[in-house]
Amino acid sequence: MDNYKIIPVSTELISEIARLHAIVMPHSPISELGWEFMTQVYFPTLLQEGHGEAVIAYYKGKPVGMTAYAFDSHSFYTALGRKRIKIIKAVAKEIKRDLSTLSTVIRATRFYFQKNTEPTSEIPAEHLAIIVLEEYRASDFVRKNRLYFARDLFHSAMESMRSKGINKFRLFTDDYETNPQANIFYRMLGGTLVWSGMNRGHISNAYVFDLM
Ligand SMILES: CC(C)(COP(=O)(O)OP(=O)(O)OC[C@H]1O[C@@H](n2cnc3c(N)ncnc32)[C@H](O)[C@@H]1OP(=O)(O)O)[C@@H](O)C(=O)NCCC(=O)NCCS
Repeated sequence: MDNYKIIPVSTELISEIARLHAIVMPHSPISELGWEFMTQVYFPTLLQEGHGEAVIAYYKGKPVGMTAYAFDSHSFYTALGRKRIKIIKAVAKEIKRDLSTLSTVIRATRFYFQKNTEPTSEIPAEHLAIIVLEEYRASDFVRKNRLYFARDLFHSAMESMRSKGINKFRLFTDDYETNPQANIFYRMLGGTLVWSGMNRGHISNAYVFDLM
């Protein structure tokens, strides 16, 4: 369909996926660290340094959803960790922009430097995020238009991982009470809940997907 396309995220589209992130998940650690962190550090490290991929969905010319994954999240977080100075500069900009973000930014910064101790950490590939604007999600939009952006985005990431020889990946999401939509979505797509607990300071559920 001409109106609908899912395309890989190139350097020029980094600000589009960052915008989707900031709108839909303003309280995720990535968004809380600010625009500069997302557009100059996080997504460039992932996408320009070859640690992962992202795709974006457009509908009628408008970005409506995105998804991203890392080939090896340990390497990705290590690469981010090496950019401490850049991160400090980026978050300082955010705090300067709005001083009231100070405590939020400090909490979010800890997220990236906390050790990941949960049991799925031996699976390298990690699906990092999937985001669809609320008005384009399953409940309303699919039933009217039969376009399932979230599922298509997720399948596109799975296909890309499979084509790179990845046979298993993991992901973290909030616990069921905090985010029922995401938990239902991952279960519907074949994810197995393998662990629940504190991950990088957040109560999380870990799902594993088998691509074999
Ligand atoms: C995760 C996400 C991409 C899934 O998108 P989606 O499949 O289009 O679906 P929805 O959000 O409409 O909901 C998925 C399912 O949960 C159900 N659901 C929605 N809200 C619910 C609620 N408050 N309680 C229980 N179930 C709910 C829906 O009915 C739907 O199931 P159905 O398709 O069988 O009806 C989307 O919810 C999203 O972008 N969320 C915000 C970002 C996010 O949390 N991402 C995951 C972590 S990175």
